[in-house]
Amino acid sequence: MIQKSTHNPYVLVVEDDPDQSRLLEVGLGQQGFRVTAVRDARSALHRLTLERFDVVVSDLNLPGMHGDELLRLIRNVDKKLPFIMLTGENDVDVAVRAVRDGADEYLMKPASVGKVVQHILSAMDRRRRSADQDRKLRNADMAQLKAFMSGVQALVNSLETKDEYTRNHSKKVAQIALMMAQQLPGMDKRQLREIRVGAWLHDIGKIGIPLTILHKEGKLNDEEWEEVKKHTIYGARILEPLAKHYPHVQAIVRHEHERWDGGGYPDGLAGTDIPLGSRLIMIADTYDAICSTRPYRKAKSREFALKVIQEGAGTQFDPSLVPVFEQTYHEFPCPV
Ligand SMILES: [Fe+2]
Repeated sequence: MIQKSTHNPYVLVVEDDPDQSRLLEVGLGQQGFRVTAVRDARSALHRLTLERFDVVVSDLNLPGMHGDELLRLIRNVDKKLPFIMLTGENDVDVAVRAVRDGADEYLMKPASVGKVVQHILSAMDRRRRSADQDRKLRNADMAQLKAFMSGVQALVNSLETKDEYTRNHSKKVAQIALMMAQQLPGMDKRQLREIRVGAWLHDIGKIGIPLTILHKEGKLNDEEWEEVKKHTIYGARILEPLAKHYPHVQAIVRHEHERWDGGGYPDGLAGTDIPLGSRLIMIADTYDAICSTRPYRKAKSREFALKVIQEGAGTQFDPSLVPVFEQTYHEFPCPV
């Protein structure tokens, strides 16, 4: 017997046979369970919408909807609610199928209260252990993600030390891309997070470009230029371990230099084949580059940046994102 309290397992008994139903209701109650008994599957579904049960004990042969159909409907919305099927002797095949379809256990009728209790407790225990296991895996997963992100932060820091220009550039591009994305209809939290992370890490692959090229003050020759272009591919490679948690970040980084007209790199994607995050970065990156002082030229005003972006609508930039930029650009940082 288990100690009586409001936390005691709450059992929904679905049984049309009045004797068996009464036996379970009284017997389980005496064993310390809280019990609600109903006579058919529809009433069971109704009760499940009103209250939270810890376990369902259901007969297979019910009037109208059978127990296996009830199980299927429950599993559509709740994969984890322990479910015990009671069957007549000839229903073993169906019962075995029911277990395969998500029932935790099945019991032949007439089932003694002792047996039902034993099965309820073991089903609940198994579910609890599997929930603990899931939680541990999730925690381990999060710890791994955190460790990876702090490694990436270290890479961003070292890139920013290596390349004066990128200092704070990643952060500003992320801020601008995110503010624009927030203006778009139908964006969910996850998409916004991926765009922010992708924009923050967009130039991470520059860590693989030789300093002599990265710091060169004059014009790059063709060979050096080809080398610089590889930073998109290096970036996607560095972010490989992030694919499990943020599947789109890698693609956003790989394609951040693709142009709307297909003339960009590394894959020459065009139009909406380019990930949305990359199309936003293309605008944000251009804006921040114009507003920043570089070794070979002084920073220009945000109005000048606006003009460049308007002129590039439909060639370099996604034309549907340029109006979004026009509405928001006055909020973006620009020292001039
Ligand atoms: Fe870049």
